[in-house]
Formats: sequence, structure tokens, C-alpha cells
Amino acid sequence: MSTRTLWYAVNKELVKKQVPVPTLDAGEVLVKVKAIAFNPTDYKHLDFGIAQNSGLGCDFSGDIAEVGSGVSLVKVGDSVSGMISGGNDERPERGSFTDFVKVHETQVFKFNSLKIDGSKEIPAGAPTTYEQAASLGACLATTAFAYESYNRWDTSKKNSQSGYALIYGGVSSLGFMAGQVAKYLGFNVIAVASSKHKDLLKLVGITHVVDYHDEDWVEQARKIGGDDIVYAYDTISFADTLSLVCKAVSTTKPVKINVSLPGTPEPENLGKNITIDAPLTYLMSDPYKIFGPRRIEGEPHFMKDAPTNIAHANKLLAEGVITALPVTVVGEGIDAIPAGINAIRKGVSGEKVVITL
Ligand SMILES: NC(=O)c1ccc[n+]([C@@H]2O[C@H](COP(=O)([O-])OP(=O)(O)OC[C@H]3O[C@@H](n4cnc5c(N)ncnc54)[C@H](OP(=O)(O)O)[C@@H]3O)[C@@H](O)[C@H]2O)c1
Repeated sequence: MSTRTLWYAVNKELVKKQVPVPTLDAGEVLVKVKAIAFNPTDYKHLDFGIAQNSGLGCDFSGDIAEVGSGVSLVKVGDSVSGMISGGNDERPERGSFTDFVKVHETQVFKFNSLKIDGSKEIPAGAPTTYEQAASLGACLATTAFAYESYNRWDTSKKNSQSGYALIYGGVSSLGFMAGQVAKYLGFNVIAVASSKHKDLLKLVGITHVVDYHDEDWVEQARKIGGDDIVYAYDTISFADTLSLVCKAVSTTKPVKINVSLPGTPEPENLGKNITIDAPLTYLMSDPYKIFGPRRIEGEPHFMKDAPTNIAHANKLLAEGVITALPVTVVGEGIDAIPAGINAIRKGVSGEKVVITL
């Protein structure tokens, strides 16, 4: 086992390469990948040329095949999943679209044991399969990062928050995680999502659902939350979605809003009580992230906090707090990567796209 397959983005083309199986530094583990999940960021890195010559992909699940020196949190044979920040031209051999991933032991989500489900459609549920575990990578890591490193909430502390949290894009992969963790933290959660997703949201105890197709969704949300919507996550992050989210939140209390895309224009005349941040998960593992001409700097505490953020997410997983979205399996084998990219590029609705290896 000296080489592995890794799918690269090279000048907006997906290219399959054979590269060396990575050697491990202290604290790192090698994961034999069993499933890979796809995120919008993957096709954006490819199609928009954000990654010009680097391995793509963030989400994976699998079994630990080898451990580096000093590893103490996991052992060979353990089932894990996680997010690595693929599409980085300065670290071209990092992407998760591969059969062996190298990752730091503090960056993985841990599971008692996982199995391959093997079905094409896996319903929402507690993550017990490689397919479901892979689907948690970026969305759970981003939630942990946003809540801990930006909002400064300790996500291991149940019922430590109060008031209403509005999750715009309630069943986007990010919104589904953000809503569940907000609920655990004690917020009353209002999900803004298509009405067809009501049952899915009910499964995780979110019963306040407002349909973003309704012209008066802001009024509906305020009718539920009154002037007590003190947190919002706009997981869609268009100028118009953020503008409406800002109208839904409290006008008198301090409000935090997270957006999923850095650079989302803030509305004019933003209430002085509102703070908007754009947590970017890549900054958990890198001091900065390059997006074409833009360089987004992290704060020094982001990488330092990362092990705690992931440890707290692991506590939630161990307590059974986290339900995975329905999974659609679009292919099997490492040659199915293009099928996964095509599926996520087309867009999803309350599901994660995954392939199995
Ligand atoms: N900053 C970060 O670190 C970070 C991390 C993860 C993701 N992201 C970004 O966050 C965004 C969401 O990612 P994701 O993986 O969570 O998305 P996703 O799962 O692909 O989102 C799909 C969902 O978005 C909903 N949606 C689409 N347009 C909408 C609109 N205008 N209003 C309300 N809902 C809408 C769809 O609703 P229907 O079901 O009704 O069609 C669908 O349920 C992406 O832009 C991604 O790149 C950023």
C-alpha cells in the first residue's frame, strides 16, 4: 500500500491522480475511507477555480488504519468521520476524495462502530452507518466552530442559552445541525424551510417551521418568537435572505447572526443591536483561506480552539443528540466522485449526497 487515488481540481477539471499514501506526523491518523459526502463547497472549488491544482473534498468516514506517535484519543480499527479542508493549493494532497485520508486525532468524530448500510436511500436517524457518519463532517464541524469559536457558547452545556434561535435553511445540511445543537443549548428553535420538511424537523424536536416561500415568513417567525429572536443562522446567505433574517430578529435585545458565506452583503441601516459574523470552517485547520483574489484571515484562537470544539461535538454524538439527514448514495467506488460532484452541483433538498468505497 504505497499509493492511493486522489481526485484533484486542476484548472476547473476533475482529474484522478495516483499519489503516495501519506506518512503520519505526531498526533495524526490514517483513515481507510468507507464513505465520502459532498458539500456545495466542493463543486464551487472546482467550477470557480478556487482550487487550481489540489485534492478536493472535505467529508469522509472510515476506519483508522494506522496511528502516528503520541496518538491517544483513538486507536487502529476505530470508526471515525470528519472534515478535512480540501481544495487548498498550498496543501494539494489533503482532499477527502480519496481512499486514505490523513487527519489529526483531535479532528475526528468518533463512533462506537459503523457499518455500511448499502441502501441507495437511508432515512434520517442516529448515525450508525459509514454513509451517515460521512454526512456529518463539514456541517457538524461548522456548527461547532460557529457556536464555540465565534459565538463563544460551550456546546457541551445543555440548556445554557435562552430565547429563540432562527435557523434560515432549516434542512440545509448546515441548518439541520445548527438547529439541533441550538435546541440542545436551550434555544426555542424556529426553522425557516419548505413546509415539506416539517416531518424531518419534527424528528429532531423542531416544531416551529416557517416556509420561506411564504411572502410573510418574517411576520410568521416574529409571531412565534416575538421580540425574543436573539440568534439567527442564515445558512443560505444571499443578500436577500440576510436582509429578511435581519428583519425577523429582535429589535431591542442584543442579537448574534451567523452567515454561511463570507462577504454576504449586510443590509443598510442594520440595527445597532445586531452583530453579523461569517464563521468559515476552513479556519479551524488553517490560519487563512484563499478564495481567488481574497485571503480570509483566521484569529489565533480558531485553530487552538478546534480540538475543544470537536471534543464537544463528540460529546453530543455520544449522548445521541445528533440525527443525520437522509442520505442519498449516488455511487460506489472512488470512480463515483464525478457522480457525487454532479449531484451536489444540481442541488439537494433535505438530504446529503454520499458515495461508498
Ligand atoms: N462557512 C462555512 O464554513 C460553511 C460550511 C458549510 C457550508 N457552507 C455554505 O453554506 C451553504 C449551505 O451549505 P449546505 O451544505 O448546508 O447546503 P445544502 O444542504 O446544499 O442546502 C440545500 C437546502 O437549501 C435550501 N435552500 C436553497 N435556497 C434557499 C433559499 N433561497 N431560501 C431558503 N432555503 C433555501 C433548500 O431548500 P428546499 O429543500 O426547499 O429546496 C435545501 O433544503 C452553502 O453555500 C455552503 O457553501 C459554508
